[in-house]
Amino acid sequence: MFRRSVVAGCGAYLPERVVTNEELAKRVDTSNEWIVQRTGIRTRHIAAENQKTSDLAVAASQEALKHAGIEASDLDLVVLATATPDHTFPSTATAVQSSLGMTRGAAFDVQAVCSGFVYAINVADNFIRLNQADNVLVIGAETFSRILDWKDRSTCVLFGDGAGALVLKGEQGTGDNTDRGVLSNCLHSDGRYHNLLYVDGGPSATQTVGHLRMEGREVFKHAVKNLSSVVGEALDLAGLASEDVDWLVPHQANQRIISSTARKLRVGNEKIVMTVERHANTSAASIPLALEDAVSNRRICKNDVIVLEAMGGGFTWGANVIRW
Ligand code: ACO
Repeated sequence: MFRRSVVAGCGAYLPERVVTNEELAKRVDTSNEWIVQRTGIRTRHIAAENQKTSDLAVAASQEALKHAGIEASDLDLVVLATATPDHTFPSTATAVQSSLGMTRGAAFDVQAVCSGFVYAINVADNFIRLNQADNVLVIGAETFSRILDWKDRSTCVLFGDGAGALVLKGEQGTGDNTDRGVLSNCLHSDGRYHNLLYVDGGPSATQTVGHLRMEGREVFKHAVKNLSSVVGEALDLAGLASEDVDWLVPHQANQRIISSTARKLRVGNEKIVMTVERHANTSAASIPLALEDAVSNRRICKNDVIVLEAMGGGFTWGANVIRW
């Protein structure tokens, strides 16, 4: 019997507070025009002071469970992708497990920064395929506002907070690419580039939380090259081609990265799910937030071929091909 990880439901949560580019321009030397032209970002949501990453994750997870029509007690596993955990330990996933009232199974975090959700889907899919789990909650949740240097205009305008979640369910498939579910995964990293995008703090290195630092132009160059090649690899693994893609759901870092990658892949603009304008870059949360947006707007439909792709600090990058 061939096991597939089929998407049973999705959910999202965005903090109430919306911050516009104009508001940021009052804090740092920037302008709405500069931000829109270079990134496509117009607004971002910022978590309230008392909202932790796990609070965002719980709200998104409750929506995903409701959409899937299952209870937290039906879950075997929680995999949570984040680079902004509540605490150094225990994992944010265990805080979510407890808040959801799930007392069995296992829960852990995955850290691959902006690629975290793509990595987490691969991890969850492996558990399901190996019969170690039937129902898995995969979450991407971040409060990047907590690690931004609000005096650095080159980074603080780019990010936002939020959370999204998917429920994956083990189902019997045939093993060919007409099955619903995760059809392929492809992950990469290259640690030689770790100093182009990093946080200058941490428990072992500095005993501080630190701030995000980035060589934006360098990241941009690597992003388009790595993302187009990894999507090609994932489609090959699934036995599909660019023409078969119904929806490209990229990590929402920057409109120009997304459009350049899609152009290289020959995927038309009408097939791209784009939320960066409203959400900015929410790191590991950006893909599940975009997925939920497209599902609730009835753009993504059952049996559509969806490609998820992301690149982030490390560098890490990857893609998943899913038949919805
Ligand atoms: N407002 C106004 N001016 C600014 C701002 C700002 N917010 N930020 C930088 N500038 C200025 C710089 O100081 C510089 O001025 P100078 O020419 O007088 O020195 C000028 O704008 C150009 O700066 P660059 O950094 O060269 O601008 P660039 O065109 O490369 O755009 C950006 C910067 C938007 C960060 C771009 O490099 C980018 O999108 N990189 C990808 C980074 C990214 O998305 N990372 C997210 C994490 S990784 C991922 O998710 C893929």
